[in-house]
Amino acid sequence: VDIVHVSDVHFGRQDQQAVRALDRHLADNPPDLIAISGDLTQTGRRREFFEAEAWVNQLPAPVAMVPGNHDTPALNLVARLLGPFRRYRTAFGVHSASRVYANGLVALAHLNTAHGFQRRLDWSLGKVRRKEVAVAQAFFRDNRDATWKIVMCHHPLVDKGDTHVRGKTDGGRDALAALASSGVDLVLSGHTHVPGVSSYGEAGGAVTLVSAGTLSERTREDRASFNRIVIQPGNATIVQLAVIDGAVQEVKRDLVTGRATAPSA
Ligand SMILES: [Fe+2]
Repeated sequence: VDIVHVSDVHFGRQDQQAVRALDRHLADNPPDLIAISGDLTQTGRRREFFEAEAWVNQLPAPVAMVPGNHDTPALNLVARLLGPFRRYRTAFGVHSASRVYANGLVALAHLNTAHGFQRRLDWSLGKVRRKEVAVAQAFFRDNRDATWKIVMCHHPLVDKGDTHVRGKTDGGRDALAALASSGVDLVLSGHTHVPGVSSYGEAGGAVTLVSAGTLSERTREDRASFNRIVIQPGNATIVQLAVIDGAVQEVKRDLVTGRATAPSA
């Protein structure tokens, strides 16, 4: 299974040249799945959702998507409180179901870490609901024979030491431990706008955490980027691709193996 992992396009502030370069890359090498880990829009405005929806609808592969903290109306407090993801669901609800791909090679569960509001003052931070983790664990129990178990969420479940941008995801560490016990191999996320691959847990049996960069103008390094993840039964190659002078170029690649652990939860 060939997955293109894209995040934080932020329609309204998207990098037009980068999005065009991605579209050409997708047309030339269509993947089996396009996984989008949230922040489709900049401020959750209707016209940003229309633009994002039009882009998603022309993508040349099935799409899997979770919302990000920018996908709730930023300027309309009433909408934000009463139905924070109503616009998102109208535009993208069809892409939100956890699914099994390629006859069980990949089981991909969706986890929403973004919220319209929360008890903390900074509503942009991530938060995991235990109930949603339980739903993901049940999905992996039902699909225990899937070779690769993957979770996609917007905020990184745990922060890496080397970025100053943090998800500070409430409940993230517990969620990651629970998902690891369910045999999860990969967690895909975005939010930080900084791409990277890291691992959680013991060497050999570690969960691989994959972060995608951004295709917006809000790059925190100097360029837009996305990932291409090639999943084979025994291993996965995670290729980081950047848009440099309008062309897609490989920056680095990581080879990881699956954990092949049976779900214990
Ligand atoms: Fe975000």
